[in-house]
Amino acid sequence: MIINKLGVVGAGQMGSGIAQVAAAAGIEVWINDISDELIAGGIAKITRGLDKLVSKEKIGKEEADGIAARLHKAPGLGDLAETDFIVEAATEREHLKLEIFDKLDKIAGEGVILASNTSSISITRIGSATRRPDKVIGMHFMNPVPVMKLVEIINGLATSDETTQTTVALAERLGKTCAYSKDFPGFIVNRILMPMINEAVYALYEGVGRPEDIDTGMKLGTNQPMGPLALADLIGLDTCLAIMEVLHGGLGDTKYRPCPLLRQYVDSGRLGRKTGRGFYSYEK
Ligand code: CAA
Repeated sequence: MIINKLGVVGAGQMGSGIAQVAAAAGIEVWINDISDELIAGGIAKITRGLDKLVSKEKIGKEEADGIAARLHKAPGLGDLAETDFIVEAATEREHLKLEIFDKLDKIAGEGVILASNTSSISITRIGSATRRPDKVIGMHFMNPVPVMKLVEIINGLATSDETTQTTVALAERLGKTCAYSKDFPGFIVNRILMPMINEAVYALYEGVGRPEDIDTGMKLGTNQPMGPLALADLIGLDTCLAIMEVLHGGLGDTKYRPCPLLRQYVDSGRLGRKTGRGFYSYEK
């Protein structure tokens, strides 16, 4: 099945990134969020990114305008009724995702695949919020979406082979490479990445080193593009905490307990780049 009209739920950093790469691949995209302001903010972020690409001469002005013209606002979930594939990229909260999938199931056309960009929540559980669990799949993009090559593909218990094939074909059309994970808490990438980030926060909490030293140590000592605390700020500390909670609850091992400092930062509203402050300050 060829996807021509994509629905994206969530206009945050992941949703807007997914919308951008889809529009760049020639797909018409409808972006939904809980307010017009958030949708406009997501589109503005994409436009700024496109302007940057034009100024760096990575793409022409005409191409950028074409991509922007393929982005449409969908103020209500009902505005996604005509799309032929929907990716949900809402906040990483299980009750919220279950509610969205229940609604999408009632709105979307019969054969439409409902994919979740969840970074850790069970696809089987999300699928069971719908009457089409065979058409529910995990399609987990990495941040920043336009740059990162990977999409994790996660089948729930009932996901059909046809759903997997269509989703992989879409991911490849967006220029991504797929890795397949079983439906376990955190899947593959976050099962391995988040404990490292959490351990970096413990190192800070216990006074082993300053943020700069922890990040320089890991960046230059293990050839990572950025240190774990800077990466946590990029991902969002609330998302990191939510993933650690899924790992801790789902796997039941104390080695996954979230660092109290991570929880404290989230409680104080220091969520990383998106709020201007996390382990580092991004305020201008
Ligand atoms: N959107 C689009 N393009 C972006 C971007 C963004 N948000 N951020 C950076 N880029 C582009 C830049 O324009 C630049 O492009 P060119 O090389 O074509 O000029 C390129 O990426 C490199 O950017 P910079 O020179 O500004 O900075 P950098 O070299 O330090 O790279 C980075 C920035 C790409 C973010 C790099 O540090 C990196 O790869 N970091 C690790 C990211 C990572 O691990 N992501 C996965 C997180 S885990 C996840 O997402 C899963 C989850 O569920 C939490």
